Amino acid sequence: MFFQVNTDVIKGCIPLYSLICFSASSKSKCFLCNIFIIKATMHSLALRNALRYFPPSHHATLAPEFAQELRQYGHIYMYRFCPALRMRAYPIDQYPCRTRQAASMMLMIMNNLDPAVAQFPQELVTYGGNGQVFSNWAQFRLVMHYLSEMTEEQTLVMYSGHPMGLFPSLPSSPRAIITNGMVIPNYSSRDQYEKMFALGVSMYGQMTAGSYCYIGPQGIVHGTMLTVLNAGRRYLGSGDLRGRVFVTSGLGGMSGAQAKAAVISGCIGSAVCPCDGVPLRKRHEQGWLMEVTSSMEQCIKRIREARSSKTPLSLGYHGNIVDLWERLVLEFERTGELLVDLGSDQTSLHNPYNGGYYPVQLSFRQANQLMSTDPDRFRSIVQESLRRQVMAINKLSNAGMFFWDYGNAFLLEAQRAGAEVKKVDGGATEFRYPSYVQHIMGDIFSLGFGPFRWVCTSGEPQDLAVTDSIAATVLEEISASVSDRIKQQYNDNIRWIREAGKHKMVVGSQARILYSDQKGRVCIALAINQAIADGRVSAPVVISRDHHDVSGTDSPFRETSNVYDGSAFCADMAVQNFVGDAFRGATWVALHNGGGVGWGEVMNGGFGLLLDGSEEAAKRARLMLNWDVSNGVRVQRGRQPERIRPHLLICSLLGLQAFAEWLNNGNISNEMMRWGCCCCPTGGEMLTPRESLSSSTIILADLTLFLHSWRWRIMYLHYIDSCS
Ligand SMILES: NC(=O)c1ccc[n+]([C@@H]2O[C@H](COP(=O)([O-])OP(=O)(O)OC[C@H]3O[C@@H](n4cnc5c(N)ncnc54)[C@H](O)[C@@H]3O)[C@@H](O)[C@H]2O)c1
Repeated sequence: MFFQVNTDVIKGCIPLYSLICFSASSKSKCFLCNIFIIKATMHSLALRNALRYFPPSHHATLAPEFAQELRQYGHIYMYRFCPALRMRAYPIDQYPCRTRQAASMMLMIMNNLDPAVAQFPQELVTYGGNGQVFSNWAQFRLVMHYLSEMTEEQTLVMYSGHPMGLFPSLPSSPRAIITNGMVIPNYSSRDQYEKMFALGVSMYGQMTAGSYCYIGPQGIVHGTMLTVLNAGRRYLGSGDLRGRVFVTSGLGGMSGAQAKAAVISGCIGSAVCPCDGVPLRKRHEQGWLMEVTSSMEQCIKRIREARSSKTPLSLGYHGNIVDLWERLVLEFERTGELLVDLGSDQTSLHNPYNGGYYPVQLSFRQANQLMSTDPDRFRSIVQESLRRQVMAINKLSNAGMFFWDYGNAFLLEAQRAGAEVKKVDGGATEFRYPSYVQHIMGDIFSLGFGPFRWVCTSGEPQDLAVTDSIAATVLEEISASVSDRIKQQYNDNIRWIREAGKHKMVVGSQARILYSDQKGRVCIALAINQAIADGRVSAPVVISRDHHDVSGTDSPFRETSNVYDGSAFCADMAVQNFVGDAFRGATWVALHNGGGVGWGEVMNGGFGLLLDGSEEAAKRARLMLNWDVSNGVRVQRGRQPERIRPHLLICSLLGLQAFAEWLNNGNISNEMMRWGCCCCPTGGEMLTPRESLSSSTIILADLTLFLHSWRWRIMYLHYIDSCS
């Protein structure tokens, strides 16, 4: 729906050119900025694009206001249309709607924009520096209107924040199809993004911001806890992290969870923040940082004390991470004492020159000034700071510290800055240090475990407690019959879910996350659906996941960084996931350019599915969740092949323990294994692993292994049920 725009209205609002620069928004202390020279023609186009949402009678009023936003913030957010209504996830019954599927999306959208949840709510940014839900507030209003009108025979089509409208579809179709940042590949550079974002034609949805599935910092606390625990197991040889020190940086939307997660894992976490102190205070008030200090001496003293007394501590240092790394080197050189065991970085390096990374040579204020007045000089200062940071990390790593890239493009940007991060004889995606996916999460993903989550739409903590208990029981039942390797993952998650209530992790909607494999996800979803049918859970529940998962994301410097067959830069998985989830029952699906490591570096997708206690919902959950996880298994073939045998991996993923053992006993030739395998649908619907196994009609002679695609990393174990 667009209106005509008369060019005369916008003429007077356009300078010949202007430097679009950083300026802290009076609205929300927004640190977003969009720095480049914008010419008059682009100004005019951006204004026209914004005005076409409104009838011409309003253009004369809106044009100067929008022009001012464009000059000041580099983008037209349409602040005046930000609703006065308190933004939060209201109980599902309070939304005006014709279908609860639409109401569930409204709830999730408002949760993503809740000031308690979102990083810069006024700019519609949920997390990750610039990950938006919509590009402007008019879009928010239009979408809420469409959702309130939508029937079960319509689908809302979303183009990078812009609602194209409601289109006829089937009751079984998704109620929304969302794409964010889709551009022609040759035009997917950061510079192009800045322009398209200024024009209001594209946006960066991060992962779960633009798909409406963010559930607050809980997800990252849980994921980080698992990362730290598994890093301890892998690098330090033990899951007992008492007295161990983890040093990292960033106290923002995602990075803020690191010190808290370290403490839950039992170790000492130290996070650094160079800002104006706001995130530091916020995390301290929240209780996520037990102590904060601006003194380097105090910081080192407290690390030393906590280390020797083996007391868990989350410590926030108000300063620059480079200073801390260099001081740790000095301490080591002076005393021989290595004060740090594990290290990482979570500054916003997916966006290094627009405020995502503060160089050590400048104060916070100086940096903000220079990035707008002299972007080239700022860039070279950032690069020098990165080189210093890497030099210190290299020295500590040589002394025994283990460092990993935490999915923020740290190594990628450090390499571009000329830092010494090259891996000798490494491939295009390999560095001197692993991405946390390569060494830590990759193992978990290859077992099919990833961040499954749900939101209780009643908004009642009691419903969340019931679902926590259901999930814990399901996981305990399954874990009784899995191998030790998988049991470890189950046990970590059972421990998490049993204690999650105690840690008071809910911010915003009544949501929970845990890592589960395919079998666990299906069983938990079915058990929750049954509980809704029985009335033990009072209202529908939305299930979803992070896009950062077993499947859904093609990201050569993160999720698929350990794909070594040359296909790390291919993005078929994410697209197939999005499409496959759509026709297998998702209530909505999303596909994004960008996310985590940044625009142009990754494709990722996700879904939301409403469980309402019906048979239909159970069928959708079974069908879609089976696909959603097993699609991602295809990357495992390229993953650390010396450590993970594909057939075991697939079988454990599918819960086919007995069959895995049979294969492991050498009953299948290597030649056959090369093609891998998957449980194939019979009669159109995928069998659950247990159903498959108990069926007397499964005859091993019927096992057909076949080459599924031109990229033979895709693995399928093809069962043919002779009765089907
Ligand atoms: N590992 C994951 O699972 C995961 C998930 C989502 C996002 N990310 C990525 O992690 C990064 C951080 O995300 P976020 O949401 O926390 O971003 P954010 O912008 O909210 O926070 C970044 C923080 O880094 C701090 N910082 C910048 N330069 C610094 C320096 N030199 N020293 C110390 N601190 C510095 C900033 O003050 C800020 O607190 C992003 O690049 C994001 O894409 C990773």
